Formats: sequence, structure tokens, C-alpha cells
Amino acid sequence: MTERQDPWLLTPGPLTTSAETKEAMLRDYGSRDSAFVEMNSRIRGRLLKIARVANSHVCVPVQGSGTFAVEATLGTLIPKNQKTLVLINGAYGSRIAKILDYLGRAHECLETPEHVPVNVEALAAKLSESSDIKYVVAVHCETTAGILNPIEEIARTVADRGRYLLIDAMSSFGAIDLAPERVPYDAVIASANKCLEGVPGMGFAIIRESLLATCKGNAHSLSLDLYDQWQALESNGQWRFTPPTHVIAAFDQALDEFEDAGGIAGRYSRYQSNCSTLLAGLRAIGFQTLLPDALQAPIIVTILTPGDPNFEFGEFYDRLNDKGFSVYPGKLTKVESFRIGCIGKLDSQVIKEALAAIETVLTDMGITNLNPLEGNAAIAS
Ligand SMILES: Cc1ncc(COP(=O)(O)O)c(C=O)c1O
Repeated sequence: MTERQDPWLLTPGPLTTSAETKEAMLRDYGSRDSAFVEMNSRIRGRLLKIARVANSHVCVPVQGSGTFAVEATLGTLIPKNQKTLVLINGAYGSRIAKILDYLGRAHECLETPEHVPVNVEALAAKLSESSDIKYVVAVHCETTAGILNPIEEIARTVADRGRYLLIDAMSSFGAIDLAPERVPYDAVIASANKCLEGVPGMGFAIIRESLLATCKGNAHSLSLDLYDQWQALESNGQWRFTPPTHVIAAFDQALDEFEDAGGIAGRYSRYQSNCSTLLAGLRAIGFQTLLPDALQAPIIVTILTPGDPNFEFGEFYDRLNDKGFSVYPGKLTKVESFRIGCIGKLDSQVIKEALAAIETVLTDMGITNLNPLEGNAAIAS
């Protein structure tokens, strides 16, 4: 096994980052340093370039984890008297509805089970019958199951019916292209520490400028007001409140590495190779994975908990962690599962080493029956 101080993080985040990205944090920048102000402007520009919407959208960063950026975007863009439709097939869609509850924004939910993509026909019907719904919020890759939602069809359906579309692309931005000519959107939300492989601590929204320009006074919260944050950044290049300087410096370095490695195409290809290696290896060992390959995003894989009485996730996790691989519990509501991520600064060699470690742990735990627990199997592909 590779000699490392830290475990490989095979999770939905925080994720493994490169040594150079961590080293970029060894400097203390003042928030008014011209080098730091330039760095902010460069990062905002680079993110727009990745999204290929520099002519129509602006990038507004915000302190905190991804959820802070989601909450800030919803609160800033959706006026207090407007109704939203939330497309839910997992915990992150449900979290969006919960945020709207907190914000006191009226909303309805269109829900499918966690292993089933958003139903675009039902979305079209809902929008046709509900003229009061003005905003739709979708999750691109629902990290709960690792499912890829049909974002192109969702975007076309929403745009054809003249509604605004906000996309939570937290776990996919930078790895799965949201081609703007095919996926028209008003806002996309992501964070530094997913597929862009920066460190955790800041998120950002890429927002249609003509929409954001109308959003003064919408926000429920001073610190999460992205209109105000945008205005400040445009006027003097500075964040309104103490910026996460080290996180920003690391992000700038991570974006250098992203560009050097071929941008979205390069990242997609590495993650896809990680994911195929993982799926093939898990199935060869005898595990059953939740999703059919056509719905599986190359981001995170959900594995059905084996029925063997010796399998106990806590012990499996600890033993694997001792061998240098950190996996993740499941988040499905109806099925017992655990997850293994494919993203972060790791390649298929790491995945192969993880698979070998998993086989050793299974042997050490005396686990021979990897068929899913009774009741779980029915839902699987
Ligand atoms: C799709 C999606 N949305 C939102 C979040 C929340 O991000 P955070 O945990 O950084 O707040 C995540 C985290 O994994 C996610 O995968």
C-alpha cells in the first residue's frame, strides 16, 4: 500500500487534495493585498470560464460549506412572495426543501425514490398546471445514491415554460459538463472541495447577471446575501467579511491543476476510470451496487449492505480506515447501504489498492455472503 500519513478519502467530502494545494495555504494574505484581490478576481473568472457562461453570468463566492452557498443562493434569488418547485430524489433535494421552510419561501416538492431519476414528464405537467410556481430547484448528481439526474431535459422543460432554474451541482461541477447551450440555467451552485479538489471552506454560485441584478433586498440574511456580496466584490474586489484566505489560495492552486489536467474532460475521464474500476472490483468481490450503470454518476457508488451476519459497518469502516481508506455510511432512507466515492485527488491505482484492502478486511471479519440483506435486494438493479 502507498505510504501516506492520511487515509485516502473515498467519500462525498471532505476529499483528498494534492500536496501542492495544501502547500498553497502556507502563506498569510491580508484581505487587501493586491495579490489576494487579484486572486479572487482570477478565481471568479476561472469558474465562469469552466462553466462557459462568462458573457451572461457572474460568480459570487461565499464562506462556508456547500450548504451555505445553497442557502445563500435560494435566499437571495427567490423573492419572499414567490413559489418554488423542488425536485427531490435524495437527501440533498430534501435539504433544499428544508432550507426553503426555514426561509419561509412557499414551495412544493416533486419526489421520486432515491434510485429513480427526476420524472421530467411529471415536472412538465406540474409546471403547466401551476402558474404560480416561478422557480425550480434541481440537484444534478444526487450524492445520496450517486444518481445522475436528467439535467438537460429538466433545463429544457423549465426554460420552455419560462421558469427560473437553480441547480445544486455541488458534487458534479467541474467533472460533468453542464453545457450552457443545452442546459440553460439561472444559477448553479458548487463548492471548492468537490470535483475542483480545493480544500473545504467556501462555496460559490454562478448566477445569471440579469437575474441577480433584480435581487437587491430579497435575502433573509446579511451574511448570506449574495447580491450584497456581488456588489462588494465588483466595487473593490474584496469580500464583505473576513475572507477564507488560505482556502482561496488553495483553490487557486487546485484550479491550476484542474486546467493542467485537461479541465472538465480530464477530470471526467479520471473519475470515470475510478468509478468503472470500483464497480468492476466490487462486483467481482460479490457486492451488489444500487444503481444500473446508465444512472450511475462517476462520483460516488452506493453498495447494498451484505446479509452476512458478520458484516457490521462500523467494524468494516474501522478496519478499512486502519489500512488507509476512508469510506462512508449510506444515506438511503429505505435500504441499508454504504458508499465509496470516486472523486478527489486519487486515481484508479488507489481504487485497486482499496479493493484489495476490502477483500482482506472481509476475510479478517469472516464474511462470505455478500448478497444484500433481505428486503434490500428488491430495490437493486
Ligand atoms: C449534491 C449536494 N448538495 C449539497 C451538499 C452539501 O454540501 P456541504 O456538505 O459542503 O454543506 C452536498 C454534499 O455532499 C452534495 O453532494
